[in-house]
Amino acid sequence: MKLEELERSAVDAFAVAEDIAALERAKAVFLGKSGLLTARLKGLAGLPPEERRAQGMVVNRVKDQIEHALELRREALKKSALEAQLLTEALDVSLPGRGRSVGGVHPVSRTLDRIESLFRTLGFEVAEGPEIETDFHNFTALNTPADHPARSMHDTFYIQGEPDLLLRTHTSPIQVRYMLAHVERFQALISRGEPIPDIRIIAPGRVYRVDSDATHSPMFHQVEGLWIGEQVSFANLKGILSDFLRCFFEKPQLRTRFRPSFFPFTEPSAEIDMSCVFCDGEGCRVCSHSGWLEIAGSGMVHPHVLGQCGIDAERYVGFAFGMGPDRLAMLRYGVSDLRLFFEGDLRFLSQFH
Ligand code: DAH
Repeated sequence: MKLEELERSAVDAFAVAEDIAALERAKAVFLGKSGLLTARLKGLAGLPPEERRAQGMVVNRVKDQIEHALELRREALKKSALEAQLLTEALDVSLPGRGRSVGGVHPVSRTLDRIESLFRTLGFEVAEGPEIETDFHNFTALNTPADHPARSMHDTFYIQGEPDLLLRTHTSPIQVRYMLAHVERFQALISRGEPIPDIRIIAPGRVYRVDSDATHSPMFHQVEGLWIGEQVSFANLKGILSDFLRCFFEKPQLRTRFRPSFFPFTEPSAEIDMSCVFCDGEGCRVCSHSGWLEIAGSGMVHPHVLGQCGIDAERYVGFAFGMGPDRLAMLRYGVSDLRLFFEGDLRFLSQFH
């Protein structure tokens, strides 16, 4: 093979080497111990001195060229290897971080918090009770005996195999539990004929009824209110509820009205309406063009209820009310379907964070 051909085939072999290892193998073919060019260099030794010099220059120049080509190819391969590596190990700093998404307070819990803190400023304590209730606390003690027609208005979930247990249909049984505990706590005062401290509580909680549509969910919330003392009047009820609603909706102009109604556990009973927070009583779609929104049931606690709880109905009087915080949340946030609150869809809920 002529020297020029040798050079060209070396350059070609380097050019097709796709990685450093292949390049080193190609290098060995030409420049290794028994490489083709090495053989030529060794062959110089056998030439007469004159020829050796001239031939030596030529062979060495070819060797330089081949080594140069090898170096160029080596650099190119290193560079592309680095580029490939950079590409696969790329750190895309423009990607948003994974982070940790921060939860928020559910709109109904937020509403309950707001209700609680407003009532606390009015001197009310917050009380709680179990969601699985006894028939006695949920109905009987609330002047709703077994055959009372009002029971059928509560579409009750009963506990299978436990005829005496049910999912509470309202938060009113918390009144009963609190009054019983209060009487027990102040038994010493009662036996001495001394007055017991006023009961002034609100009781928020989940309640359950067999019901489901755009404005009813089988689970919903209520906030019960109770104030029992020696001198608690219907006027106090009106004042407290009107104040509360004005503060809650931040509308000093808000009006309330009390319509006669019936509940077994209050006498007299009243339904509380407030002027529509959307149209200020002008009439709009939200209030069915009446200008009023029904907001709570209320009344003076029935003597039978006080009696069932061991409170002297001759000495103590008081009022109670029950309202729907889910509805207050809907009105405050302008939500038209109650079910949205309880479906757990983050697209809806995260709007309140
Ligand atoms: N417990 C009633 C209900 O769920 C609401 C209610 C009405 C509660 C009048 C009261 C009250 O405390 O006085 O329908």
